[in-house]
Amino acid sequence: KLDATIKILGTAYQCDKFTNVNSKIASHIGKNLHISKDHPLSLVRQKVVDYFYKAFVNSRGNPVFAVFDNLSPIVTQEQNFDSLLVPKDHPSRLKSDCYYINHDYLLRAHTTAHDSELIKSGLDNFLVIGDVYRRDEIDRTHYPVFHQVDVVRLKTREQLFPADESLELFESGNNTTNTGIQEKQACHTLEAVKLMEHELKNTLEGLAKTLFGSDIRFRWTDSTFPFTQPSWELEVHYNNQWLELLGCGILQQPILYRAGVLNKIGWAFGLGLERVAMCIYQIPDIRLFWSQDSGFLSQFKTSDPNAKIIYKPVSQYPQCINDISFWLPDNAQEFSSNDFYDIVRSIGGDIIEQVSLVDEFFHPKTKKTSHCYRIVYRHMERTLTQAEVNQVHKKIAMQATKSLGVTVR
Ligand code: PHE
Repeated sequence: KLDATIKILGTAYQCDKFTNVNSKIASHIGKNLHISKDHPLSLVRQKVVDYFYKAFVNSRGNPVFAVFDNLSPIVTQEQNFDSLLVPKDHPSRLKSDCYYINHDYLLRAHTTAHDSELIKSGLDNFLVIGDVYRRDEIDRTHYPVFHQVDVVRLKTREQLFPADESLELFESGNNTTNTGIQEKQACHTLEAVKLMEHELKNTLEGLAKTLFGSDIRFRWTDSTFPFTQPSWELEVHYNNQWLELLGCGILQQPILYRAGVLNKIGWAFGLGLERVAMCIYQIPDIRLFWSQDSGFLSQFKTSDPNAKIIYKPVSQYPQCINDISFWLPDNAQEFSSNDFYDIVRSIGGDIIEQVSLVDEFFHPKTKKTSHCYRIVYRHMERTLTQAEVNQVHKKIAMQATKSLGVTVR
């Protein structure tokens, strides 16, 4: 298979040891749900863009944020990781977590992948919106393709402190810590960081109110990302639980230096669109976003992105539950559940609602490990027969045997 090529968006890429994109995943590229007419993800995109267009205008009343919603999801390791200071040994780079086309290219794991090049091109205020790809567990809230918006805002000393010439962005200080969390980067003054933090948090609280309604409850938690410091997460209280809504922070100054920007400080955040849409429209299953069914799409036909829409399930068809147990191959450490999930998804497609590891044990005599997975099958638009589920289930077992070296029990 190593001399094979894989064709994506009309270009053939050479496969190598890194290649783990399959044709099922590749079939999602170019669907561009986030800019499809009447799609709920497109409505959320419009709400976010409108908010930034209104909240930040120049002296002539024009929006200052530029919007990029059609950048190719095929990026280099440099874009997705190195340009953002993600260490070479960071777990987010693992083949078990990302879709690599080959050693040089992968499907972006976050829209943050474009931040550095857009900063380099001279932009100070921009949004990047697009599809992102991650290998992950399978359930009603996870799908290997989802959508994000990333936002960056850079400011000069004059923009941040228009009224006070004595205040500076930079100093040659130490990283200061407050209760163990890095309060600021060594090169920044505390005044600059605090003012940026204030604008960032205000902006995001305003965004949360725009998306979820003005009486939404929210809270801030400290976080870490390789590309921001300090970093935070915003959680909103929805349906009786705290939901992680977004990650954000003050951009690591070396990212700006490397992009040729020496006199500015920046904030950035990244937000997932599916999670927002599932909450505000009460969409119960993430697979619905990929539905071509007019019963789904017609509910989001509106010329007004602020229209109040509550999704009404067309019908809930019954689930079919089948288990599969197998012995892992002898080099069990190399086995990743995500490899199995990919096989399940590429054979079962969108009739897979959930896969979970329900049992795991080690046989002391044979020194073999056994995994039992429960696969929940459900079609979004009709009732599945047990016979057709059995057929898919059997194919999954065969493919797992063939490509993962497991032994079905
Ligand atoms: N890229 C991060 C994610 O996908 C979100 C993020 C963006 C955090 C920008 C901080 C700054 O989770």
